Amino acid sequence: MADNSQNQARHVAIIMDGNGRWAKRRALPRAMGHKRGVEAVRTLVRSLKDMPIECLTLYAFSSENWKRPQDEVSDLMNLMRSFIRSDLDEFVANGVRLKIVGDWRALDSDIVDMLEDALERTRNGTRTVAVALNYGAQQEIAMAARAAASEDEITPESIERHLFTADLPPVDLLIRTSGEVRLSNFLLWQMAYAEMIFVETLWPDFTPRHLHEALDTFAMRERRYGGR
Ligand code: FPP
Repeated sequence: MADNSQNQARHVAIIMDGNGRWAKRRALPRAMGHKRGVEAVRTLVRSLKDMPIECLTLYAFSSENWKRPQDEVSDLMNLMRSFIRSDLDEFVANGVRLKIVGDWRALDSDIVDMLEDALERTRNGTRTVAVALNYGAQQEIAMAARAAASEDEITPESIERHLFTADLPPVDLLIRTSGEVRLSNFLLWQMAYAEMIFVETLWPDFTPRHLHEALDTFAMRERRYGGR
């Protein structure tokens, strides 16, 4: 039998973009776009049980998102609170291990407490859903390089051991929604050899079918890692 394991994405990362435009097109408040964005997250996480993906990393709040109006930042934080409250049991029941990447301990202390509890309760899950919160890749790389330098030589391997994602496979596939074509300081190290797919779909409209299509496209790409 042909070995196509190379063609299966183990780690998929998504930049969930376009919530604001989704709302604007419907003359709804931006908060409604984010709310529908959370529903898209919920549906996608549920669909993972039928997919071969080991890890899904979602960009929920970047270290640059603090620049948004205060109202919007609190809407996003409140959505995070209610998402954990409503979906944690389902994560546990479905064997999903929650992971948080980023400087999440700097968030409001009640969220930090909720996340600590969620991490503890999901720690035996076999499939990882990593949520990037207060995350910036340049900050992560600088932090990892500092930690590597304090105990060892600085090499790609020593830096990698100090990244938030040290226990995860490298990102195979990045998907960004809403037609924007940039990386926005997301997992820059981890995506060194990632395939990238940019789709026009706005995040609240993104469904498991879109993820299946992206995985099919990924499976047809030839990855050479600099070789030939
Ligand atoms: C980009 O849309 C989206 C965000 C900045 C936040 C993404 C967050 C969620 C989908 C909800 C929280 C997630 C979880 C896991 C509970 P945008 O506002 O930049 O859209 P625009 O570019 O159209 O204005």
